[in-house]
Amino acid sequence: MEEVLRGLKAEAEASLHSVSDQVGLEEVRVKYLGRKGLLANAMKQLAQAAPEDRPRLGQLANTVKQDVERLFQAKKEALEAGSQTVKQQLDLSLPGRFIPSGKLHPVTQVMEEICAVFEGMGFAVAEGPDVETDHYNFEALNIPAHHPARDMHDTFYVSDSILLRTHTSPMQARIMEKQEPPLRYIAPGKVYRCDSDITHTPMFHQVEGFLVDRQVSFADLKGVLTLFTRRIFQGDLPLRFRPSFFPFTEPSAEVDIACVICKGSGCRVCKQTGWLEILGAGMIDPAVMKMVGYDPEKFSGFAFGLGVERIAMLKYGIDDIRLYYENDLRFLRQF
Ligand code: PHE
Repeated sequence: MEEVLRGLKAEAEASLHSVSDQVGLEEVRVKYLGRKGLLANAMKQLAQAAPEDRPRLGQLANTVKQDVERLFQAKKEALEAGSQTVKQQLDLSLPGRFIPSGKLHPVTQVMEEICAVFEGMGFAVAEGPDVETDHYNFEALNIPAHHPARDMHDTFYVSDSILLRTHTSPMQARIMEKQEPPLRYIAPGKVYRCDSDITHTPMFHQVEGFLVDRQVSFADLKGVLTLFTRRIFQGDLPLRFRPSFFPFTEPSAEVDIACVICKGSGCRVCKQTGWLEILGAGMIDPAVMKMVGYDPEKFSGFAFGLGVERIAMLKYGIDDIRLYYENDLRFLRQF
């Protein structure tokens, strides 16, 4: 018993010595001096000592306790004095240190803006996988194997049936096969094509949009896209729908906006045409509807897919898409 008591004192002393802050100090206090602490525990065991030893041991226990309390008090005062000096050393008149803050990448900013515009029109946002199956990227969009339209896509294959999605259109099939009309979605995300020059990067971003309901017409598509371009380019620039072809829409169109730089009179950016292409769109092909189990006699819908980098280029007058991905801070800081 005597040894236990002396051991406890030595231990407590060592612990107090190595403590460096109030939290550590409190831990030591609870461990040794607390109501359920080691010293209280040792005191309880005194009852089991032989009656003739009890007075001596009792006295020893009390001394040990007082010693530890004294050491604790001394340490407490020392720590408090220490923090006082730290406070005195603080010079509050010194200028603050500048902490540089990061910003969203211009492509992310424009992507969020685009989504916000469509959300304002009641579209819900959905995201899907970048690594996609041949089925959703092609088959379910009415592009069977060996269809010439596959050549437009410059696909990165992972295996025979797995690939990096070449567009966000697979989300049309993924959502439509799970939900019944009416539905109204946008699907933003990364897409991949084996292509690289001043207007193409192997990875870029698209926002897919589609709406399915009864009696949806091409006029609805035009209305939605007109409102969208007004909001994004903050002006009343005319749109032009050119007949085009996508296997998953019929009829299909490519949509041009009057050149945001020259307002249509012809310049270097629009290659003197006065028009800039911003997206592909069309009425969802009945074949796609059938594949997801919709009755094309009952429902119709439109879909569109727009390139985010392209819209950001037009919005900010950027003439080389590769600038987005070179991470030159002088470029990025402008946004
Ligand atoms: N997925 C097409 C592309 O990437 C764009 C598109 C989407 C066209 C939806 C029509 C409808 O080129």
